[in-house]
Amino acid sequence: MTDPEKSAARLRRQLADRLSEAGHLKSPQWQAAVEAVPRHKFLSGGFFRSVPGSSPTAYAPVLPDEYSEGWLSLCYADESLVTQIAGTVVPRDITGTIARQPSSSSTLPSLMVDMLEALDVEDGNAVLEIGTGTGYNAGLLAHRIGVENITTVETDPDVAASARHALWGCGYQVDVVVADGRKGYADSAPYDRVIATCGVTRVRQEWVNQTRPGGIILTTLRGGLWSSGLAKLTRTGDGTAEGAFISEASFMRARQEKPESNLDIPGPDDGERRRTHLGGDIAHDWTARFIIDNTMDGLSLIGGVSLAGEPPSDYFLHPESGSFAAVSGSGDEGYTVRQGGPLRMWDTAERAIGEWREQGSPGVTAFRIRVTPEAQTVYLESAPGVAWVKPAGTASSL
Ligand SMILES: C[S@@+](CC[C@H](N)C(=O)[O-])C[C@H]1O[C@@H](n2cnc3c(N)ncnc32)[C@H](O)[C@@H]1O
Repeated sequence: MTDPEKSAARLRRQLADRLSEAGHLKSPQWQAAVEAVPRHKFLSGGFFRSVPGSSPTAYAPVLPDEYSEGWLSLCYADESLVTQIAGTVVPRDITGTIARQPSSSSTLPSLMVDMLEALDVEDGNAVLEIGTGTGYNAGLLAHRIGVENITTVETDPDVAASARHALWGCGYQVDVVVADGRKGYADSAPYDRVIATCGVTRVRQEWVNQTRPGGIILTTLRGGLWSSGLAKLTRTGDGTAEGAFISEASFMRARQEKPESNLDIPGPDDGERRRTHLGGDIAHDWTARFIIDNTMDGLSLIGGVSLAGEPPSDYFLHPESGSFAAVSGSGDEGYTVRQGGPLRMWDTAERAIGEWREQGSPGVTAFRIRVTPEAQTVYLESAPGVAWVKPAGTASSL
């Protein structure tokens, strides 16, 4: 019988080779980490796989069989493996399937490696990771810079306990802290590098303050319309941070920033109606969603709602202020918007999308971000005047 540890080591080397050939792994240090850290040990509670063709996506549990080559191969595939659903359910809890949102996972190895390479870690750097999940990424970091230099923060105590167990079992006595990582972790600050593996709506001032001048913050920013961009910021000496969006990567969002689930649809007579050149189908475009999300926090979208006597409309909702924009029509016949509440959301969206189109509709990586104690500003590198500013602390979800 084949020795499972030998099989796992071979599969790790194969994963590292594939990631290297595809251009994700660039440096020998991260190559060595992928070859050394046993991802399967971080998946010993099993994982969920999506059921092909299910809508909404359903997940079925896959329980561990560390001695089977099939199980090990899945652990070393370049796949994101969901390990918890709906904030509590783990693979051993169910038979059959479950169609709820994933709440913890072991991230896609190629994305993890892209981020680790982009973090530009140097020997001796102190690193804060936000979103421990299985602990696999913290294991890679511990291998690269030493256990004493990495602190990882997880909001879910059960997830944190499993990650600690796996990390320590592999010989990586990493400090796994249970906390809301959106506030960073002041006790071990300052850090040279901060990396978030859950999506957030804002780069919080705490992260900036806890990073040394010249240090790097790497995080995905995601909004209510499910846009996302991976931002790489450098902390400047005056307590601000600034940088570029380097990819469209996306992560499950921070649990505290879950979208409002009880959304009220306004009645058919609410709001004021007018013609608009911008249809609700603009939300099919990733960058357009990214731009609208960067004009305000806390948006939700419900597509194709038909109220009595009304044509189907896409409802853009801002529950916190009670504002809405319901957009109907088509490119052929033209669009109509009905807006209500204190924010004229469609006026803002039209203006922002118009400015972006005037610049040739560039993608997410054409944008930059600046964070100061006063505001978070996302702007176009080629036209710094095309900017969307969110003042600090303007959303109750923060
Ligand atoms: C995609 S997983 C992280 C993957 C992980 N880095 C790995 O290597 O397996 C995202 C994790 O972020 C955690 N999370 C969500 N909100 C958080 C918060 N506010 N602070 C810290 N962790 C959070 C989730 O519970 C989840 O475990």
